[in-house]
Order: sequence, then C-alpha cells, then structure tokens
Amino acid sequence: MTFTPAPWPRKLRSQEWFGGTSKDAIYHRSWMKNQGLPADLFDGRPVIGICNTWSQLTPCNAHLRDLAERVAHGIYEAGGLPMEFPVMSPSESAFRPTAMMFRNLCAMDVEECLRGQPIDGVVLLAGCDKTTPALLMGAASVDIPAILVSGGPMLNGYFRGERVGSGTHLWKFSEAVKAGEMTAEEFVEAEASMSRSPGACNTMGTASTMASMAEALGMTLSGNAAIPAVDSRRRVMAHVTGRRIVQMVKDDLKPSDILTRPAFENAMRVNGAIGGSTNAVIHLLAVAGRVGLDLTLDDWDAQGRDIPTIVNLMPSGAYLMEEFFYAGGLPVVIKTLAEGGKLHRDALTVSGGSIWDEVSGVTNWNPDVIRPVTNPLTPQGGIAVLRGNLAPQGAVLKPSAASPHLLVHRGRAVVFEDIDDYKARIEDEALDVDETCIMVLKNCGPRGYPGMAEVGNMGLPPKILRKGITDMVRISDARMSGTAYGTVVLHASPEAARGGPLAVVQTGDMIELDVPARRLHLEVSDAELAARLSAWQSPVARPSGGYAQLYHDHVQGADTGADLDFLIGPRGNAVAREAH
Ligand code: FES
Repeated sequence: MTFTPAPWPRKLRSQEWFGGTSKDAIYHRSWMKNQGLPADLFDGRPVIGICNTWSQLTPCNAHLRDLAERVAHGIYEAGGLPMEFPVMSPSESAFRPTAMMFRNLCAMDVEECLRGQPIDGVVLLAGCDKTTPALLMGAASVDIPAILVSGGPMLNGYFRGERVGSGTHLWKFSEAVKAGEMTAEEFVEAEASMSRSPGACNTMGTASTMASMAEALGMTLSGNAAIPAVDSRRRVMAHVTGRRIVQMVKDDLKPSDILTRPAFENAMRVNGAIGGSTNAVIHLLAVAGRVGLDLTLDDWDAQGRDIPTIVNLMPSGAYLMEEFFYAGGLPVVIKTLAEGGKLHRDALTVSGGSIWDEVSGVTNWNPDVIRPVTNPLTPQGGIAVLRGNLAPQGAVLKPSAASPHLLVHRGRAVVFEDIDDYKARIEDEALDVDETCIMVLKNCGPRGYPGMAEVGNMGLPPKILRKGITDMVRISDARMSGTAYGTVVLHASPEAARGGPLAVVQTGDMIELDVPARRLHLEVSDAELAARLSAWQSPVARPSGGYAQLYHDHVQGADTGADLDFLIGPRGNAVAREAH
C-alpha cells in the first residue's frame, strides 16, 4: 500500500481560525496569547491537539499529564504548536454502572473537540480499557491526522514471591477465599501488591489488548503497546510521537489512509496471537464502523481461526506485560505472523511506511514469553464465534482462556434472570447446581445492564469450588474482563433485554456447546421457543432523560460494536465558521 504525501507548504485548517488580519483572526489569536504564546507560533505551522484522558479518577491514566508534556516537547521540536485539551475519561475500575456505557459518550466528546477546535492533527493519549477505542472512534469519525500513545502497563505485581496480575489474581484470590484456601486478611494484604506503579492493567487484559490493537492497526508508532508506564522509554515514545504527528499533518496522512480492511485483518490476527481480550471484538467493530468499513463477527472468526496464541501472558499464560516488553513486545509478534504468511505486510502505519518495515529487524529476546509458532501456548487462538438458536446473531468465546475439556459440552441450564438474582443465589448451598450444569445470566447486554457489564465470567458456586473445580460453562449477554478466564460464552446476541432467545431460557433446559462446530444450541423446539418469546416482556425500563435515555434508545447490539446508531460512519472535519 503506497501513500503519497501531500505537497508542503500549504494552508492548514488551523489558519481558518488564526490566519490573516481580520477581526475574527485577531479574536482567535488574542485570547490564545493570554497563555504567553509568541506571535510567530500562529504563522501557519501545524497546530497539534493533545487529546488527554488524564484523570485522577481513572488511576490507569493518572500519569498522562507527564506524557502530554513529553509529546509537547516533540511537537515544538518538529516545528508545531501543541495544544493539550481534556476529554471524558471513563475508568474501568470505578465508573458506574459501567465504563462501557460511556465509551460512546467519550468518543462523541473526542469527535466534537477535534472538529470544533483549531487543530490540524492530534495525539491521542489513552490507557485504561475504554479510552483507547473511544479516542480511535472519535478520531476516525473526524479523519484529521491522528496518532495514539498509550500510557503503558503497570510494573509486575508480586505477592509472597509470586507474580500477580491485575484483575486475573483478583478473580483467583476471590475464588480462593470462597473455597477456603485463602483468608480475607490475606486477600486484603494482596490488594496493595497488585497495583504497584502508575499504568494500566499489567496482564493481557483489555487495556493491553487495545494498545496492541492500536499498534497492529498502524495507529501508533511501532513498539508502543508494551513499554511500562514508568520506563523512561515510555517518555521517549511520547516525545517522538510528538515529532511524528507534525510530519503527518504536513503529509496529510489521515486515519482513513491507515484504517483499511488489511489493517483490521492484521489486528484480528494479532489479537489471536496475543490471546487478546474478547472486548477487542466489540471495539474493533465499532472503530471500523466509524470509517465505514463493514467488519463483522464472521471476520473475527475467520481471521483468528488458524492463528496460534504465542504470547505467554496472563490471563491465558504465565507472564505479564513487563516481561512482554523485555522480550521485544508486539513488533516481535507482528514479525512472527508476517513470516508465517499471516499478515498483510504492506499495511500502512502512522510511520508513513509499511508495518513490515517497522518490524522486520526486531529480535525475540525470550522465546518462553513470545513463543515460536512451533511451540504455541494454544494452537488455536483467536475468537470463536458461536451461532445457534440461543444466539442467532452470534456469541463469542475465547478458546485460549477456556478449559479444553469443556469446549464440547452438554448441560442443564441454571438460570439467573439478572446480576442481582445471581448475587442473591450463587452462594446458597441449596442451589440446585453441579459442575456439569451451564450457568446462564440474562439482562447484562448493552441495553440490559446498561453498558454490558464485565460479569460474564460469573464466579462459581462455593460448593463447587470446594471440590477443587475451577471452571464451568457459563453463557450470558455480558462481556468479560480481558483479565479473566474460563469457558465463558459472551455477548450472546440479540441480548435478553431486546428479546433475544437468551431471555427465555429456563432452569432445567438442556444446552449444547460445541466450539469446534461453532454451535450454541438450546434444546427446545422451535414452537416452544416461539411461544416463550411471544409471551416475553422486557424487564428493563427505559431511563427517563439524560445520557442514559439517549444510550438506551440508540445503542446497537454487541454483534455490531455497540456504538450509538447515529454515530456510525465518518463525518469529516468540516465545521461552520463562527463569526464574531
Ligand atoms: Fe484501567 Fe484495567 S482498570 S486498565
């Protein structure tokens, strides 16, 4: 894929605000100058926004002010004018009811800020799970030159000499307490050891997955995804990204040049190789929608089918992002896929060159962390897309995080009508459940929760955990944290709150899961299923007012990316000129 840079010099977008001697131009410049900016900074050079999701309430992004300064250094150095601005920052660890409900609101914020402000290009500063897709979505809709820098992962956690991963060990320790293998006091002691430095989750959870997706799409400089937040090379990455965006503006290298079908196919394959989060499915569908690309669940299944998981990181494997970085990080994975013929080598990146150019010279420094394809962690990585009368529009499962003996399983449904029902009954010793059952959770999809909570990996009943059993088949319309694991069928579509078949599963129904055949079947006759559905009434009330109502009315299903229907597609950067 060849890219032809635009001629330079030429008049940039920001000059529509700052150029000339009109009253409007003086108005726009004069106010800016209250920040102590010399007049020659408005001479037609690229004005670069630094779009920052910094927030102390998003702890994974709390160090992004420092990185923004580094980006600004690079922009000045390359002859641009940096302008940092804040956008909404939905924190995965704290935002209620779910950060996911606000991904689209954050993307709207980004889109309007990019379009409405006097900037020619933007550096996107992201970290925590939803911030990366939200920024990519907003930038894709506006389509001005854009490049992303991640905040980077936290350093390894350790508890009593053992590596502990963000999220992954929260679930593990929580189950251990329920099983009587760990005391509540020990659990509290472990808390501090899990998050010992600035940065995002240090497992291959959603934050690291989405940083890897951004890199695989070509929307970051090579090597961005894995550098720890506190490593000085993270600052270097921010600095050189600042330099790069100035040239991208001069060349007019835009997201629409980079976010092509080959780029998305590369990203889906890379997700299989890294054992990435199932959340990437929804986010990439949504980003693709913003550039008008018709990416589907079937693409996910097809692209990942023959991709082995070679990155040995939690939750599927043993190591953490720090070791991934020391082993060579994502460029090694991309190179490995390319050498195996599993990558579009000529896909364009923000570098202005091909993705192959970026990775061809890298070395794998630890083949236990990044395995050769001849010794993978899982021979079949990728995302399995299941269909059947229980999920006619699809459901997903991550084989690398599942128990092999459960990938083909038939079991009796134990149904929870919603998350409150689950919480109320799961620890009841009288609950009629054993390890052969299939736990079913309803009303946790995009509209049902709302925002599609990460509760699909619902914890097992204590009486089963005490037997030493750690996995059962679980099915829901929820998502699962990228740090979690188990034989968990997620994103069942249509969701229960829209009257999908999941809504009418009853305790005692038999369900058949066959991952190799991509089948998810409720053993109920078509006539019985139709009768149940015709009697069904939604238990989810429409919110009255505010963003919650807007979201409820317009959110799409998980199978197409859960974007708001009116945000799908590119809208460009044109804006009516304000007259003063
Ligand atoms: Fe923010 Fe995991 S909670 S990255």
